[in-house]
Amino acid sequence: MNRTADDIKTIRELVAAWPETRKVLDRFGIDYCFGGSRDLASAAADSGVDEAELKEAIEEAIREGGGKASAERDWSKAPLSELADHIEKFHHARTRQLIAETEKLLAEAMEAEGPFRGGSLFSLRRMFESFAVETERHLFEEEVALFPYFRQLDAFSRGLAPRPHIFCDSARYPISVKWKEHEDTGENLAGFRRLTNNYRSVPEAGETVRRLHKKLRELEEELKEHIHLENNILFPRGLEIERTCGIACGDVAAGSEAAHGEVAKNAAC
Ligand SMILES: [Fe+2]
Ligand SMILES: [Fe+2]
Repeated sequence: MNRTADDIKTIRELVAAWPETRKVLDRFGIDYCFGGSRDLASAAADSGVDEAELKEAIEEAIREGGGKASAERDWSKAPLSELADHIEKFHHARTRQLIAETEKLLAEAMEAEGPFRGGSLFSLRRMFESFAVETERHLFEEEVALFPYFRQLDAFSRGLAPRPHIFCDSARYPISVKWKEHEDTGENLAGFRRLTNNYRSVPEAGETVRRLHKKLRELEEELKEHIHLENNILFPRGLEIERTCGIACGDVAAGSEAAHGEVAKNAAC
C-alpha cells in the first residue's frame, strides 16, 4: 500500500519522503531543517498559518511531483555510505569555502565602511568568528567519528563487514549532540539576519557590504540543504539501520527525540 501524507508523523518524515514539499514549506515560512521533529499541526500553529491550507498545498505538491523525474537525487533511497560521502565531499567542502569567502568579505567590508558604519559589522564579525570555529569543529567530528561509523554500519547491514563500534555503542548520543549543534547553527543564522536587517543593505552601503550580504545568503542556503540531509535523512536512517541490526532498541522517531533529551540531562548512555 502506498504511503500518503496522512501517514506522516513529522515534518522530517514528510520532506524525506517527498522532497518536493520543501518548496511548499519554504513558501509558508515553515522550517524543516532545524525543527523537523514537529508535526504538521504544531508547525502550522508556530508559523501562524492555516493548517488546512498548508495540507492542501502539500498534497498538491505531492500530486504534481508524482511520477515526474526529478533532477535532484532522492537521497532517502541511496545507501547510507553514499549519502555520507556526498555530504562530506560536496557540502562540507562548500561550507568551508563559503565560510572562508565570508570571512574575507567581512574584513574588506570593515575596512571599507570604517568606524562610521562599522558598529553592526563589528558585532557580525564577532558572531561569525565563533560560528566559524564551532562549525569547523562540528564538521571535523562528523568526518572522523560519525560518518566513518555510518559507512561501517552500512557495510555491516549488508553482511560485508563486522559490527562497527562507536562511543556509547550506538550513534544515538553523538547524533543527539550534532542535532543540538545544528540548532545552534540555526540560531547563528537568525543572528546574522538580525544584524544585517535580513540582508537588506541600506542605500548608502558600499559594494562590499552588498557582496557580503549575498555571500551570507549563499551560506544560509548551503547550510539549510546540508543540515536537511543530515537531520532529516542521514541521522534517522542511521538510527533505523542500528535498530534493524539489533544495535539499538526503541522507536526511531521517539529515539531521536529521546536522544535529544539526553543532551539536556547530560545522561550517560
Ligand atoms: Fe555535516
Ligand atoms: Fe552536521
